[in-house]
Amino acid sequence: MRRLDQRPARIDAPTLVGADIEVPLVSGGVRRYVNLDYAASTAALTEVADAVDAFLPWYSSVHRGAGFKSQVATAAYEGAREAVREFFHARSTDVVVFVRNTTDATNLLASALPEGTQVLAFEIEHHANMLPWRRPSLQVTYLRAPDSPGRALDELEAALRGSSGADRLVAITGASNVTGEVWPIRDAATLAHRYGARVLLDGAQLAAHYPINLQDLGVDFLAVSAHKMYAPFGVGALVGPADLLSGGTPYLRGGGAVDFVTLDSVLWSSLPERQEAGSPNVVGAVAMGTACRSLARYGMDRLAAEELELAAYARRRLAALPGVELYALWDGGMPRLGILAFNVRGYWHSQVAAILSAEYGIGVRHGCFCAHPLMLHLLHVDDDEAVHIRHEIEAGNKGRVPGAVRASFGIGTTRDDVEYLCRALEAIVTDGPRWAYRLDPASGEYSPDPETRQWPALPVALSAVLVGRGESS
Ligand code: ALA
Repeated sequence: MRRLDQRPARIDAPTLVGADIEVPLVSGGVRRYVNLDYAASTAALTEVADAVDAFLPWYSSVHRGAGFKSQVATAAYEGAREAVREFFHARSTDVVVFVRNTTDATNLLASALPEGTQVLAFEIEHHANMLPWRRPSLQVTYLRAPDSPGRALDELEAALRGSSGADRLVAITGASNVTGEVWPIRDAATLAHRYGARVLLDGAQLAAHYPINLQDLGVDFLAVSAHKMYAPFGVGALVGPADLLSGGTPYLRGGGAVDFVTLDSVLWSSLPERQEAGSPNVVGAVAMGTACRSLARYGMDRLAAEELELAAYARRRLAALPGVELYALWDGGMPRLGILAFNVRGYWHSQVAAILSAEYGIGVRHGCFCAHPLMLHLLHVDDDEAVHIRHEIEAGNKGRVPGAVRASFGIGTTRDDVEYLCRALEAIVTDGPRWAYRLDPASGEYSPDPETRQWPALPVALSAVLVGRGESS
């Protein structure tokens, strides 16, 4: 037995591939890349890259071959499925379906919902948890952006009380990809169940930053992306009860999802194969499973505590900077992840992002972050203005689409990184940019004029063009 004065061996924080990579600055020279764009995509954990390297010689077809390598690959794929199940504390009856990403997962679920299902979703959702529900077979109700977690629950309860129908789904984010606010999931799930609705948790932003225990939260379905979980190899998962996914025609139709086919009949397989037509992404699954094990070993409670502390510090620092406006839905009441959206007075969001990249080697995202209705709400864009913006885009001018800059954190982000960002923003506010920038109206992107940075030498084909790297939508 461990003596009380003996501490458990400290497990070192996981490390990321490319954590020390240097990038060119427009004025010449290089500096360590300060990655503040974890909410979009994360670098691979070193352990994930090692596992992929170790697995690649064994790579082979899954579920299709009698050869030894095929059997190894199949065992690795199924082992990854179990790692995902354990990481999210899924019920033993839940199915884990490997998909491409969160968007794929929500589209899969949308395709499996019974005709006439009523979907309740807040207007703050990422498009991945908004657009899949807009289909003729479903009815969607959008709930207004709440100004507190309590108001969110009140709005949800009113909507549940006011809706009827045998099949209802509450589709709710775990954490906003714009404001970082963690949503009251357990309470929302309790409410939904009280009214007979099921719950889908969009866990894209939560999964690598905050513990998710499906049984404890009482959530039915979970959609996640491994590329936001330090395993960027093109896989994601939909986790949840088997009933909806095991009937009807599968979302993808093809080989691997069938037991028997004639020219006029199909015998679809049972789950999970039924929903995984085509050769599965076994490398992606191995990466995701390894990331799950690695994050669990370090401890999601610990990772979350570290990030929340850093996020609170960063929010205080940015809020105190003259000329910087931070966006939030509510003041408090729930934790906030390291995701901070802001604008700098006198500068367009894409301009700030270009300056941070070119002059400071800081990587952020800017625009509307695939959450247009939320951004319109946060920026107080009214309906008339929204129509005008749409017309401008249709006319080929994205140069004045409103948005914000977003800094987001993850494993390896430090106070020094936050301080560096703050100093850069202070310098922009005080002294302005040190280089000229040109707006491309077609993309809405600013780029240095002239551009001096060269692409790195890589064993892959690179476009000669070094503009339009950002994405303003
Ligand atoms: N959904 C990702 C983001 O918020 C791409 O950046």
